[in-house]
Amino acid sequence: SLKLAIVGGGSTYTPELIDGFARLRDRLPIGELVLIDPAAERLELIGGLARRIFAKQGHPGTITTTQDLDAGVADADAVLLQLRIGGQAARGEDETWPLECGCVGQETTGAGGLAKALRTVPVVLDIAEKVRRANPAAWIVDFTNPVGIVTRALLDAGHKAVGLCNVAIGFQRKFAAHLEVAPELIRLDHVGLNHLTWERGVTLLDAPGAAGGREVLPELLAGFGPQIAADLQLPLPAIQRLGVVPSYYLRYFYQHDEVVEELREKGSRAGQVAAIERELLTMYADPTLDAKPELLGKRGGAFYSEAAVQLLAALLGTGGVAHDVQVVNTRNDGILPFLPDEAVIEVPAEVGAGGVKALPQRPVEPLYRGLIAAVTAYEELALEAALKGGRDRVEAALLAHPLVGQLDLAEQLTDRLLAHNGQYLDWA
Ligand code: G6P
Ligand code: MN
Repeated sequence: SLKLAIVGGGSTYTPELIDGFARLRDRLPIGELVLIDPAAERLELIGGLARRIFAKQGHPGTITTTQDLDAGVADADAVLLQLRIGGQAARGEDETWPLECGCVGQETTGAGGLAKALRTVPVVLDIAEKVRRANPAAWIVDFTNPVGIVTRALLDAGHKAVGLCNVAIGFQRKFAAHLEVAPELIRLDHVGLNHLTWERGVTLLDAPGAAGGREVLPELLAGFGPQIAADLQLPLPAIQRLGVVPSYYLRYFYQHDEVVEELREKGSRAGQVAAIERELLTMYADPTLDAKPELLGKRGGAFYSEAAVQLLAALLGTGGVAHDVQVVNTRNDGILPFLPDEAVIEVPAEVGAGGVKALPQRPVEPLYRGLIAAVTAYEELALEAALKGGRDRVEAALLAHPLVGQLDLAEQLTDRLLAHNGQYLDWA
């Protein structure tokens, strides 16, 4: 049986993962699960609830907790990274100061996402090094945002890593529900970078894993257009004109100025999340609670436990599916010929015990290609800045970002980014 470790196990999100591990235990037989977190009190609270969920659902695995990373990852078959440097407080700043410059304030997109990358990449690389020392064969599955940049950092450092996000599985589940079919029958033609993707096609398979199938995107747009548009908060006519379904992160590009106005009115998502988290923690402390509470559904992480289980089951060879196609973040390696091979892209990949292999993609239309290429260049510069530090590198990354792109703006944003993140950046 398997040993898994979760770095950031004290997250209020962890019960979502535990619930998925418990429900889907036949696909992923976990013998031991270690929750690792520096916050001792949180860890005990979450650990207690996690054990109650396993017990309630009759899961035979043990759950332990530790603040000691080296001890926690020893002998792990896979390590999940789901950490947030600076917590919701730092996220709240990322979502706020860019607005002062008329730019979107978001945890992964734009200047806020750059701040998060700068705080996060060095810590994640440090953790990954410890994982490798403890067990070079262990898989690292990264949920830590910004997933594209963090995964690129891990792969460049030679780690056995895959990046994972719930956007694709979210579309798969939604489309399956619209068509009233099992999610395993829906295959997405999903292309782009993490949080910058488009569904260019949706195939309804005859059986899970079967070849062929029928293209159903036009029928989804015709039959369920209003719901799809409402979920994405994008105008239906625009989606119909494009004939593709952009992820909701494209709203930060396609309706940038409108979103900035909205965000100025509404206050940060971090503030809302912090309030939800306070309420969750009170609920978790109740020793009679033995299931994931509904309130967790107010967070953005729907289906991320399912995504984790299916990826881990394929990588660790316990899922029993021969040709398993899943959307992951991995090396481009020529799949999108207009990007460097080393770039990390988010596309369907064949996943198995041998690893992850991105599947060939048909040529990307210029309407999407340009944005993908620009954001890839930004991500490359963002990683440079995260690894080497320096004001000039931060400013260069911002100048390259298609939502910034002007000298004055890049300078003003850099001032603010550095002013708000000094305590996290040893070079600043
Ligand atoms: C989705 C995204 C994640 C992101 C989350 C935010 O799940 O894929 O990358 O972190 O939403 O959700 P929150 O509840 O924290 O706003
Ligand atoms: Mn994501």
